[in-house]
Amino acid sequence: MTSVLFVCLGNICRSPLAEGILINLIKTRGLTAKYTIDSAGTASYHIGKHADPRSIAVGQKHNIHLPSRARQFTTSDFDKFDVIIAMDSSNRRNILALARNTEDEAKVHQMRDFDPNGRGDVPDPYYGGDSGFDDVYTMLLRCCNGLLDAIEHNRL
Ligand code: 4NP
Repeated sequence: MTSVLFVCLGNICRSPLAEGILINLIKTRGLTAKYTIDSAGTASYHIGKHADPRSIAVGQKHNIHLPSRARQFTTSDFDKFDVIIAMDSSNRRNILALARNTEDEAKVHQMRDFDPNGRGDVPDPYYGGDSGFDDVYTMLLRCCNGLLDAIEHNRL
């Protein structure tokens, strides 16, 4: 069993969408029994909330259901997850600030490390328009495919 945790700032826009996309890819590839997927935010602003309606809408367009409720990343997540994926460099810094040792640190990656089209941050779509969510969906789908390939081929 491999457990993957996606982490953004609020856990309402990017990471719940990444979670839904990866769950769907895993299902499509017939790998459901091998994985546990979850998401969290580094901030506490939105604890308990459903995903942003714009993330839910872009998910629906692609037949992806987003059931997640926002929660905050905690140190105990280093014990619960094998792979921790930050959406941007700021999320990554905030996660690493909670790491206790090099073993914790080694679990942390950035989402676009798995993007065949480039590196950098998954942009935060919260303050933008709906098209930002479509662009983020396309980027997350590319990255989730790359991430799943990396895990399946023991490249992580
Ligand atoms: P997320 O987007 O990190 O992708 O969930 C954000 C959601 C909320 C806020 C910022 C980013 N906020 O400032 O409330």
